[in-house]
Amino acid sequence: MEKPDRGLHHLLGIDSLTDRDIESLIERTLELSNGAPASSASVTTANLFFEPSTRTRVSFELAALRLGMRVINIELEKSSATKGESLEDTVATLAAMGVGCLVIRHPQTGRLQQLAENLHAPIRLLNAGDGQGEHPSQALLDAATLAADGLDWSQATIAIVGDIRHSRVAGSNLKLFDRLGAGRLRIAGPEEMLPDPPGIERVEVCHSIEAAVRDADVIMMLRVQRERMDRAGWPDPDQYHRRWGLNPAHLELARPGCRVMHPGPINRGMEIDGAVADSDQSLILDQVRMSVFARMAIFEWLH
Ligand code: NCD
Repeated sequence: MEKPDRGLHHLLGIDSLTDRDIESLIERTLELSNGAPASSASVTTANLFFEPSTRTRVSFELAALRLGMRVINIELEKSSATKGESLEDTVATLAAMGVGCLVIRHPQTGRLQQLAENLHAPIRLLNAGDGQGEHPSQALLDAATLAADGLDWSQATIAIVGDIRHSRVAGSNLKLFDRLGAGRLRIAGPEEMLPDPPGIERVEVCHSIEAAVRDADVIMMLRVQRERMDRAGWPDPDQYHRRWGLNPAHLELARPGCRVMHPGPINRGMEIDGAVADSDQSLILDQVRMSVFARMAIFEWLH
C-alpha cells in the first residue's frame, strides 16, 4: 500500500484523509479480505474506550493481533482517569511507556481532534467514535463492504435512515460516500433526529422512510442514540417502529437486490425488523467481517 509521505499522523475523521488515502485504504482492506498476507508490525496499541463497544473494540484488537501487534485494553474503572487524570496526561503516560497507537472512543464530539492538536508525544490516535462527531473506521469498513459487493458508486442511491443527528456513523459515512461519488445521498428520520444543517450540501432530506427507500440501492439503518438525548426526547419504541422501522414491505419499494446495512448494535423491532436484518439482502454481518480487515489496513497505513 502506498504510504503517506507525512510524518506522524492519526485517523481522526474523513476530512483528514486525502483521496489517495481513501482509495488505498479501501483497496488494501479488500486485498486483506481476499487473503493477501498482512504485514507485521512490532507496535503496541492500546484501547481506551469511554463508551461501551463490542464490534469496534474487539475488531481493533483482532486486527492488531493479526498484524502481530501487542494489544492492551485499558480498564477505565481501574485506571487513573478515576483519580482525576486528564486525557492528555493519560496519553502522554502511555506514549512514554512505548505505546505506539491509541484507539479512543470518547463521548465528547471533537475530543480526538483537540487531543491531536495538543499532542507532543510520538503516539498515533485512532478515532473509534467521538460523541456525535465521527467514526471514520466504520465508514471505511462500510465503503469496503459495498465495494466488495460490487456497488457502482456513481449510479447508487444510498439512504441513511434513523437518528442521523446524534450518529457519528452518519457523520463519517455521509462524508465518505460523498467523496466516493455516490449518485444520490438521502437521509430520513424524525424531525428532532435530523441534523441541522445536513452536513453534506447535496444530501436529500426525506420526511418518510418510504420516500427515502424508494429505488434505493443501499439502505443504512441507524439506532436511536438514547445516550445522547434527554430522557424526555426518547421515542416510544413501538411508535418509532411503526413510522421509521425498516420492514419487508419497504424492501419492495427499493431497487431489487437493495442492500441493507446497519453498523450495530441493532435493536430488533425498533429501527429494523428481525426478518430484514436476517434476510439475504442484509450485509450486517459482512460489515462486521470486513471490520477486522479495514482496521488491519488502517494500522498498516499508520506505520
Ligand atoms: C456505532 C457507534 O458506536 O457509533 N456502533 C459501532 O461502532 N458499530 C453505532 C451505535 O452505537 O448505534
